[in-house]
Amino acid sequence: MAAPKNQAAFLKEAGTPLEVADAPVPTAGAGEIVVKNAAIAINPLDWHMQEHGVFIQQWPAVFGCDVAGEVFEVGPGVERFKKGDRVIGHTVNLVSGRPQDGAYALYTTVPANKAAILPSSISFTDGVVVPFAMEAAVCVLSVTEPGPCMPGVLTPALGLPLPSLEAVPSTDKTLVIYGGSSSVGSMTTQIATAAGINVIAISGAHNLELSKRCGATDAFDHKDSSLVEKVIAAVGTSQFVGVLDAVSIPETYTNSLAILAKLGGGHLACVHPPPPDMPENVKAGMIFAVNDIATPVWENFVTPALEAGKLQCLPRPTVVGKGLEFVNEGLKRSKEGISATKLVVEL
Ligand SMILES: NC(=O)c1ccc[n+]([C@@H]2O[C@H](COP(=O)([O-])OP(=O)(O)OC[C@H]3O[C@@H](n4cnc5c(N)ncnc54)[C@H](OP(=O)(O)O)[C@@H]3O)[C@@H](O)[C@H]2O)c1
Repeated sequence: MAAPKNQAAFLKEAGTPLEVADAPVPTAGAGEIVVKNAAIAINPLDWHMQEHGVFIQQWPAVFGCDVAGEVFEVGPGVERFKKGDRVIGHTVNLVSGRPQDGAYALYTTVPANKAAILPSSISFTDGVVVPFAMEAAVCVLSVTEPGPCMPGVLTPALGLPLPSLEAVPSTDKTLVIYGGSSSVGSMTTQIATAAGINVIAISGAHNLELSKRCGATDAFDHKDSSLVEKVIAAVGTSQFVGVLDAVSIPETYTNSLAILAKLGGGHLACVHPPPPDMPENVKAGMIFAVNDIATPVWENFVTPALEAGKLQCLPRPTVVGKGLEFVNEGLKRSKEGISATKLVVEL
């Protein structure tokens, strides 16, 4: 059999297009698998990395956070996977800086505790929408102590339960999710619902059904002039936990803080640094979506939940093209803005 050949989409300098070139085939270290990628997904983080060189630790850089494909190699100590298994995985170049940990390649190293078997009924293209958003959702919901995110910025710590495969009775706790149709918003809606948390989603008018499909009990149009009042009425007498602001721009911060002010304060989980001068009764933080708190979810929840339809591959993928050359197009489209979809490159 011919030796495998790897290629990766390299960023050589901030602000330039990625260049596809030969790369070494990664080797699986202890606790790792190497995945032969069939589909990779584009996240907004990636165009920030491309444009500004942020978070890049090693040049030329290979980044990207989501892969789906077949296990090519299993590292020492890994028992959950074998060669040939169909998997999805969350790649961790963001923290390691190593090029072999970036998704934008034909072969990528993935920590085994950030991967799960993809049921045979689900395509790689569908499955690849799950990994990064799922881990972000767990980081929104279940971190118990604020930890470091960026210099001077702590993570939120909502301390909510992990999702369960069983039918969980409602906890009477309500979380408002702003940006309910985004990848992070829709995945957090699903994971929170599977933990018994009520979700009220704020999404575009054309995406309210998507939020309901993810489990939201109510969904409101973010352009509604009575948005804040409607959300407050929907929370009613339930136990208000706070807001996930999965958009985190001045407009959404204003409304998120208005909701928190009317409901007596609570958590404000942001995807970017929170605004300064928080009211005393608001505990604000920025999520950092790489955290071993997600390990039990990867190991025990993702595969059976996908099999049972409890975890759905939402938002739906949009295929940008086939081949690493299409990553540049995906980055461009991500920067332009998308609605209720995840951009995917097939390989
Ligand atoms: N800190 C971290 O660890 C971390 C991790 C992951 C992501 N992020 C950040 O989180 C953000 C979301 O990422 P993503 O991948 O989920 O994004 P995404 O899917 O690309 O977000 C697109 C969605 O944003 C929604 N949106 C835009 N403006 C809105 C508004 N004013 N009100 C309500 N919804 C609005 C759109 O909703 P409609 O089309 O329905 O209007 C659209 O569906 C990005 O900025 C990303 O960089 C941070």
